[in-house]
Amino acid sequence: MKTSTLIAIVALNVTTSSHAQSFFRSQAPVDFGKNEFKTNCAACHGLEGKGNGPIVDLMKKPPPDLTLLARSNKGILPIEKIYNTIAGDVPQAHGGRDMPVWGNIYKIEAANYYMDVPYDAEAYVRAKILYLTEYISRLQR
Ligand code: HEC
Repeated sequence: MKTSTLIAIVALNVTTSSHAQSFFRSQAPVDFGKNEFKTNCAACHGLEGKGNGPIVDLMKKPPPDLTLLARSNKGILPIEKIYNTIAGDVPQAHGGRDMPVWGNIYKIEAANYYMDVPYDAEAYVRAKILYLTEYISRLQR
């Protein structure tokens, strides 16, 4: 092999591998809670959870400000209530609820995702809701 070809190959290797390294180094860890919130919740609750999503005008009552959940509970995030509200286990005081029942939606999503592979629907639903609850904890002010 000619020396110039060898140098070219080595040079190419060095540039691609340093590119690859900086590419992987620049990859932030995937934020599952944020992604899920963006996909399924932000339309109503707004990207920052303040209750100002783009479809609020179409709703009977605006969604609550999720960034104040801890503050309005003596500074303690009501994790269980949040979890159960998302799952759909909390009955509303008056009339029906305006928020979709995510526990059921995620069960259907799991069935579509795994098709005929054995899976645990409860675990799938729990993981989704825990991601979301953790994300909501980060939105508190
Ligand atoms: C269609 C609009 C809509 C969507 C989409 C929606 N919500 Fe809601 N959410 C509401 C409304 C309205 C309420 C107030 C309770 C009610 O009327 O059902 C609420 C209440 C809540 C509460 C309870 C807040 C409190 O004051 O205790 C939490 C937590 C919550 N939503 C989280 C979520 C999460 C997480 C998602 C996405 C998986 C989501 N919501 C998607 C409309 C929505």
